[in-house]
Amino acid sequence: MATIDKNRVIIFDTTLRDGEQALMQSLSSKQKVQIALSLEQLGVDVIEAGFPISSPGDLQSVREIALALKNSTACGLSRALDKDIDACYEAFKGVDHYRIHTFIATSDIHVHDKLRKDFDDIVEMAVRAVKRARNYTDDVEFSCEDAGRTPIDHLCRMVEAAISAGATTVNIPDTVGYTLPYEFGGIVKTLFNRVPNIDKAVISVHCHNDLGMATANSLSAVMEGARQIECTVNGLGERAGNTSLEEVVMTMKLREEYMKGVYTNIVTENIARTSQVVSGITNEPVPSHKAIVGSNAFAHSSGIHQDGVLKNKQTYEILTPESVGFKENNMHMTARSGRHMIKAVLEKLGYREGSYNLDDVYSRFLKLADRKGQVFDYDLEALLFLSHEMEEDTLFELDNLSVIAGGKNIIPTATVRLKIGKRTRTESGTGNGPVDAVFNCISRLTGFKFKLDNFVISAKGSGMNAQGQVDVDLVYEDRHYHGKALSTDVIEASALALISACNSIYRARIIQEEKQEKENA
Ligand code: KIV
Ligand code: ZN
Repeated sequence: MATIDKNRVIIFDTTLRDGEQALMQSLSSKQKVQIALSLEQLGVDVIEAGFPISSPGDLQSVREIALALKNSTACGLSRALDKDIDACYEAFKGVDHYRIHTFIATSDIHVHDKLRKDFDDIVEMAVRAVKRARNYTDDVEFSCEDAGRTPIDHLCRMVEAAISAGATTVNIPDTVGYTLPYEFGGIVKTLFNRVPNIDKAVISVHCHNDLGMATANSLSAVMEGARQIECTVNGLGERAGNTSLEEVVMTMKLREEYMKGVYTNIVTENIARTSQVVSGITNEPVPSHKAIVGSNAFAHSSGIHQDGVLKNKQTYEILTPESVGFKENNMHMTARSGRHMIKAVLEKLGYREGSYNLDDVYSRFLKLADRKGQVFDYDLEALLFLSHEMEEDTLFELDNLSVIAGGKNIIPTATVRLKIGKRTRTESGTGNGPVDAVFNCISRLTGFKFKLDNFVISAKGSGMNAQGQVDVDLVYEDRHYHGKALSTDVIEASALALISACNSIYRARIIQEEKQEKENA
């Protein structure tokens, strides 16, 4: 085990595993790599990239992430089964340094009712799994799933056995978010008092937020000696989510003295941007009142508060917005800005050259600047996400759109022209509103008879500078598809979002056809 300063708390981010597993739809490899690179720039120590055995696509994206990372350690999850551990190895083949994270449940309810085994069998499986993983890498983490509800004697026995078998990190999850801070800290304290070889591994914690205790429980464990926290950006994760990275990191920073000098390697000024990147890509809005990263987290509304802040900010502000990276870009980006400027702003926002296509982003930027006048940081980031998505195969492209929105005694009418491969086709139609009219035309042009499941318009940016983001969820032949687009014109954004979803249907069909051909061959 590499020696790490005894006060340093390792940040293990599981946004791409526990977080992703809770999303309505899965992310593409490209999107996952983009999030992973943001996490790396944030200074995350270990990035849990996925669960390789769960699907060939997941294995591939874990691999792509591991190959893209330079400083953070990539980690793959596995049950305590040979085939899972081998799938992790498969994903990491040729990667310099990586972690295999293997787990098995230890609470009575999970052992007896879910796994239908005895605790002795569970210990044996855990030991075997850790040993197998150690044949592949010297960085092995073992988790006692549902540790929060595991009888303490069993937990002590399991932790000792996992460390003896070679686990370098042992994780104590409160899988169902059941414990209270004092109680959870007490579990970790008991482990330190009773497990004889505990100094041979890093003790980690992984808390869920079912009772809203995840941050408090994680920090309570750190006070008792845990030195790794597993967490997610914006607190994404199963059910009520996981411990939120920004909350534990900023608490340890702000209350370092109270917390006996613990610290992390997180570059806190990158927190706001990472939160926005994760929210943009996962399509999970950050609640405005979310601690640290919510849009309201540093706003003062009441007269008394405003008066206090004007006299001395610290009256109502324990953290500065700048400390987590909320700052306005002071470079004005307009249609007169050159490629160098855009590259410089993207660099400042933390995007390495090579992780995006400058020509593509720049041409999209110019189109937006023509319409919008001034372009802001968040617009540029949105263009980046969209341009990544556009790299995939597309069949349909919007060529022209004109709409009569409606009014008294006027029926909303749209005319849509699409490029479909090498051809161009036009349809006109009516609807119960302008968006409905546009969607009817697109449905006829693509030939896809989908059911619209969800349609959301949200503002990206604030006030007069905002753009409209449209998200559509479709159901087509029992599968869900999602499309997203941004424009200063929400009807155009709606058309583009629907077309993006139709392109996903098209891609899914191609994959299906290729599969069928292979099976028939
Ligand atoms: O919540 C949990 O117990 C987990 C484990 C796989 C670590 O996510
Ligand atoms: Zn979990």
